[in-house]
Amino acid sequence: SRNIRLAVIPGDGIGTEVVTEGLKVLEAVGTKVETTTYDLGAKRYHETGETLPDSVLDELRGYDAILLGAVGDPSVPPGVLERDLLLKLRFQLDHYVNLRPVKLFPGVETPLGKARPEDIDMIVVREGTEGLYAGTGGVMRRGTPHEIATQESLNTAHGVERVVRYAFEKAIGRPRKKLTLVHKTNVLTYAGDLWARIFDRVGLEYPDVETDYCHVDAASMFFVSQPERFDVIVTDNLFGDILTDIGAAIAGGIGLAASGNVNPDRTAPSMFEPVHGSAPDIAGKGKADPTATILSVAMLLEHLGLAQEAARVEQAVADDLVERLTGWAGRTTHEIGDDITARVAG
Ligand code: NAD
Ligand code: IPM
Ligand code: MN
Repeated sequence: SRNIRLAVIPGDGIGTEVVTEGLKVLEAVGTKVETTTYDLGAKRYHETGETLPDSVLDELRGYDAILLGAVGDPSVPPGVLERDLLLKLRFQLDHYVNLRPVKLFPGVETPLGKARPEDIDMIVVREGTEGLYAGTGGVMRRGTPHEIATQESLNTAHGVERVVRYAFEKAIGRPRKKLTLVHKTNVLTYAGDLWARIFDRVGLEYPDVETDYCHVDAASMFFVSQPERFDVIVTDNLFGDILTDIGAAIAGGIGLAASGNVNPDRTAPSMFEPVHGSAPDIAGKGKADPTATILSVAMLLEHLGLAQEAARVEQAVADDLVERLTGWAGRTTHEIGDDITARVAG
């Protein structure tokens, strides 16, 4: 089989710990992988002042895919690594689809007591390059009682249409063929109107897809009260960020939630990462669950056309999760990684 050229950005905190396990599993799949590790993150920032030098960004463009752990550290001011490293990668590599499955595996405990795996099985298609993340806005009279801070949501017809189209394609490929637009059209009348019009217009091309609309506040409620309402969801950058942490919670916890920052046009490599952050509260203790990263590796394999390999990794995780009903307590990051690796290999 072919050789995958993979760039690895372990990042900060538990990012480095979970990526080690993800790579172990990837190696066990048996596909030839050539990895190059990049030391981007808090340490490099402190040593050199660099977050993501242009030369590194250009080099990253040459890989088949990127695996990222997490970035962010209490010793670095908020936003420096998040914006100038992580978001810069998503924006510059045109990751306009942030794909976040919310799926309850059999045997996994959910805070929604009686929910079954068939009730929680959705995909959130989060826009990845625009919205409130665009970074436009500004501050006046900073530090005074008259300070004014604005932060604008940028929405372009091009940007909205391409992610909406992707979501319709996703929906039509699933058994339920249902797509829900989540926004806040009752208040965000400019951006919401643009999203709603494009959603309706593109929907005309997909008569077999059942469409629905839900305000983001109500959607948050339905995530915990009636998750079975949802199949595929398409939403903007910030709503998708918040909804997918709720999604992680209902599907067994943030340690299980995988994601892909996808460039569907393949003009640059896509980047796969757990939904969670660097978790400074448990970093260095061997307590982080590497499962989200391992499932992100499965998404990476799928993206590279290795569907069978992806399925093997997902099955190994599913089998491990069933076992956790009895044998979970006390396993370290390495032990979970080893157990899943053994299943993939065996
Ligand atoms: P977080 O996801 O790092 O942690 C939230 C809580 O979940 C913590 O209690 C943590 O211990 C727990 N947790 C997270 N991952 C876990 C895992 N794999 N196994 C077990 N428990 C896990 O979110 P936060 O605390 O809001 O942010 C910490 C830092 O990470 C910040 O700097 C933030 O900006 C950054 N962050 C980065 C990313 C990313 O790189 N994609 C995502 C989210 C947050
Ligand atoms: C995530 C994170 C990031 C986001 C931050 C760290 C920029 O919360 O991947 O969900 O908001 O997208
Ligand atoms: Mn988030």
